[in-house]
Amino acid sequence: PKDVGIVALEIIFPSQYVDQTELEEYDGVTAGKYTIGLGQQRMGFCSDREDINSLCLTVVKKLIEKHGIQYSDVGRLEVGTETIIDKSKSVKTVLMQLFEPHGVTDLEGVDTTNACYGGTAALFNAVQWVESSAWNGRYALVVAGDIAVYAKGSARPTGGAGAVAMLVGPNAPLVLDRGIRATYIKHAYDFYKPDLTSEYPTVDGKLSIQCYLSALDHCYQLFCKNVAKNYNIKVTLDYFDSVVFHSPYCKLVQKSVARLALNDFVNAPENKRQELFPGSEAYNNVSLSNSYFDRDLEKAFLGYSKEAFCKKTSPSLLIASQVGNMYTPSLYGGLVSLLISKDISQLAGTKVGLFSYGSGLAASLYTISVSKDCNEASPLFKLVSSLQQIKPLLQRRQKVAPEKFEANLELRERNCHKAPYEPSGSIDHFFPGTYYLTKIDDLHRRFYARI
Ligand code: ACO
Repeated sequence: PKDVGIVALEIIFPSQYVDQTELEEYDGVTAGKYTIGLGQQRMGFCSDREDINSLCLTVVKKLIEKHGIQYSDVGRLEVGTETIIDKSKSVKTVLMQLFEPHGVTDLEGVDTTNACYGGTAALFNAVQWVESSAWNGRYALVVAGDIAVYAKGSARPTGGAGAVAMLVGPNAPLVLDRGIRATYIKHAYDFYKPDLTSEYPTVDGKLSIQCYLSALDHCYQLFCKNVAKNYNIKVTLDYFDSVVFHSPYCKLVQKSVARLALNDFVNAPENKRQELFPGSEAYNNVSLSNSYFDRDLEKAFLGYSKEAFCKKTSPSLLIASQVGNMYTPSLYGGLVSLLISKDISQLAGTKVGLFSYGSGLAASLYTISVSKDCNEASPLFKLVSSLQQIKPLLQRRQKVAPEKFEANLELRERNCHKAPYEPSGSIDHFFPGTYYLTKIDDLHRRFYARI
């Protein structure tokens, strides 16, 4: 099959949020720390009525309904998530409740877990399935979902929640380019979830930033090599029309673009550097591995890359700044943001770089080629126009005071593995079509209804 990639996309986020300016005040930190320092405006959160199963049920049902897909059109289903409830039982099996009534049970794929990387791993599996001898002519459906919550303290404002569903097949408007993507995986304890009774991770914030930036360097350098080898093209930031990143918080993404500019500087011949980066003499001997927290260097390259950031990356941060880190869906929320922030004629025929990072750690840099065809009958037009309700939906969310947000997290903390359990959260604020938890019985079995 030709042009395998994303045919349709759907995203959901919580209908409630806390305002980051109000949270700064409530937490007693200096004004601007979350909004300017981290680059976050609002943070979506879930009450005890939502869990990873309900989020994934909601997003799959929405995608299927909106695009008029038959359940029997799907031949593979898998989930990327790091939000674990039943441990040995996958979220994918819960989603089978949607397929079974239609007689569809022959669906390969289960859950994939490695922090925020699971969605990308699932997407790669799906694309490879369509490209393989195992393919049966049907679509693959990839779901990425998470609830990102942190213990009280400096990491808490970097939470979020949401889910995406991606329909993968041939002749796609968003094609995953073959043979050039770059991966970097190694052992690190930057963020992990060893306490199985808690939803919160154990996180070393500074180390996680270093791991993220170092994974970006390694992936980019390998990507440059792969493209040089296969196409004899020297990659710089100019190679990409857009670059989308996993976004723990938006400021780190801006620093990541600066990091790519620094890589371009390091890769440039010394006699060209001054022309490309005027005033950069002081950095001629810089080493990538020793410069993660070099303030002067960071500032200089934030400057050099400012235009590239505004043009190529800033449009992809809409949902990230409004919802927060969704973990596995974060990168794909970036892709959706890009698609709804630009005119379709500006998207057609472009090349999008995507950087996926999951702590622990696993990372990949790959590219999507957007189809050139954007007329009203085109698959690209259909995909992009199906996302037009996202911006109004972000505005329709309900703001909740920091006190209530914190009380809600305490409620989750106390009850996250309790059974039997009757959730007490209101269902009034949910968007239509949302699945929510009605009860957990004494055997920890979960039951849902749809609004
Ligand atoms: N106005 C403007 N900026 C401010 C203000 C203010 N009043 N106060 C602080 N800042 C800036 C700081 O200078 C800093 O910016 P810099 O990094 O450019 O110097 C930024 O705001 C954050 O302040 P810090 O003091 O560094 O924040 P802190 O250490 O308290 O927490 C952290 C930040 C480590 C990101 C924390 O939120 C965290 O641990 N988050 C979870 C881990 C994470 O997201 N890691 C990223 C990759 S891994 C993943 O995806 C999970």
